[in-house]
Amino acid sequence: MHIFKKASDIKQFIHNLKAAGHSLGFVPTMGALHEGHLQLIRRAMSENDEVIVSIFVNPTQFDEASDFSHYPRSTAADILLLESIRCPILFLPGEEEIYPDEALRRRKFDFGYLEKTMEGAHRPGHFQGVAQVVSRLLDIIPADRLYLGQKDYQQVKIIHRLVHDILNLPLEIVVCPTAREVDGLAISSRNVRLSKEERQAATALYKTLDWARKAGSRMTPEALKNQAVEMLMQVPEIREIAYFEIVNADTLSPVSSWVDSSRIIACLAVRIGEVRLIDNMFLKGIH
Ligand code: PAF
Repeated sequence: MHIFKKASDIKQFIHNLKAAGHSLGFVPTMGALHEGHLQLIRRAMSENDEVIVSIFVNPTQFDEASDFSHYPRSTAADILLLESIRCPILFLPGEEEIYPDEALRRRKFDFGYLEKTMEGAHRPGHFQGVAQVVSRLLDIIPADRLYLGQKDYQQVKIIHRLVHDILNLPLEIVVCPTAREVDGLAISSRNVRLSKEERQAATALYKTLDWARKAGSRMTPEALKNQAVEMLMQVPEIREIAYFEIVNADTLSPVSSWVDSSRIIACLAVRIGEVRLIDNMFLKGIH
């Protein structure tokens, strides 16, 4: 596997790949790689001549300093994992390569309502940080396809807006289904921070979403949301339910009726112990 740490080196390498007519897939990550990332990388490898994975824990997208300091970092194990699936290229930059000057770290983007709701409302500045790093990474890595997981659904919508409406890049965004454990828990780098009891309690997220999907149109979205919140409140390990929203999957505005949109998704965020977990599921239509 080629490992690049400097933006100028990987840019030159990509220039040569493009000159040779190779298509390029890109999987941005913050490391602590797991099966969810591997599914994105395998898909990218099956659809492109070359694939770049980046690992960079982006400080500007953490609204809580303790979340940033506790974010799992396991670069040596990540490299072994990437080599085991024959990932061809890793970009492993330091902060000075991503934010060589303050202006890049402070760039502001207008996402309108997309960043005012759910994660955006609960984590001020989070999506600005995501956009700062993704815009910089795409400047260094002008890929043909970008691979993202559905688990971070709101992030997917933000990056769509960034890439297609703000930066106007000719980049295809490929959204891959959420990878789940056998009991349904969405695979996340944060899961390793759950105690045994908390890990067990975390299955309530998938169970509640799955219940909502099946109960669906038998009641109004509001009644469904209230019952889902009730179910989550029964789990003592869940310290906080940040939100459970049933929204139009394109605009992220709450729906009041099942005919409001052809694509409706339920999104939730809870805190179990010290760990914040998110998940989502389509209730109507597909991605
Ligand atoms: O989803 C993530 O891991 C991060 O938000 C991303 C897209 C790599 C940007 O830091």
